[in-house]
Amino acid sequence: MEIPKNIYNLPTHVSIIMDGNGRWAKRRGLPRYEGHREGAKTLENIINFASDMGIKWLSVFAFSTENWNRPKDEVNFIMSLLVEYIDKKIDKLIEKNIKLRFLGRRYNLPENLVKTMEKGENLTKNSTGMNLVVAINYSGRAEIIDAVRKILKENIKEDDITENNFSNFFYIPEMPEPDLLIRTSGEIRISNYMLWELAYTELYFTEVLWPDFNENEFLKALYSYQSRERRFGRV
Ligand code: FPP
Repeated sequence: MEIPKNIYNLPTHVSIIMDGNGRWAKRRGLPRYEGHREGAKTLENIINFASDMGIKWLSVFAFSTENWNRPKDEVNFIMSLLVEYIDKKIDKLIEKNIKLRFLGRRYNLPENLVKTMEKGENLTKNSTGMNLVVAINYSGRAEIIDAVRKILKENIKEDDITENNFSNFFYIPEMPEPDLLIRTSGEIRISNYMLWELAYTELYFTEVLWPDFNENEFLKALYSYQSRERRFGRV
């Protein structure tokens, strides 16, 4: 899709909670994993579009620390989809100058997934275009706890921790806070996602299920964002 000319005030960082794959499949009488497969295609389209638009950071919530409670078959499917998807897309990411990063706890992820994640990060580390951040085994509270653990381990003094430097202990310290968060499928909640980082983020919720989300829906979110006045607590 062509990039419209009337886009101004582009957010630096757009984050997406990709929700509704299961319901998309159910409405079609398909097994849930078909929804995830279709969701992966949507993700590819949105990555390309965001990168072509010049968005600097795109992050997506692929698997939460709570998602382990899903049926074992579904968890396994998502894990292998991630391996397959990352592996298949690395060349394309390099070609588009996209830098791939991951957010979340790596321990207790399957070894082949961690290897594939590291491979993706290494092979795209010299990219200078869009940063693509995929949250896997991630939760906002876990990230905050992991930051506190790092601080304690490094024996950092109480007075040396401030609101400005606390995020230096996060998984990707240089990641700017999201300007815009999109959540699909009509759920109006944050679900333990980037709790610290979302403090001043503009929120956009849509009824559209993630597999039905597309470039046009993405533009709607950007138009909504560009009309908002961000005050960060000031008048
Ligand atoms: C939410 O739908 C989706 C997930 C928990 C998995 C996200 C995975 C993808 C979008 C696959 C592609 C991603 C990558 C990085 C390959 P849901 O299952 O919670 O849907 P429901 O709320 O309708 O049940």
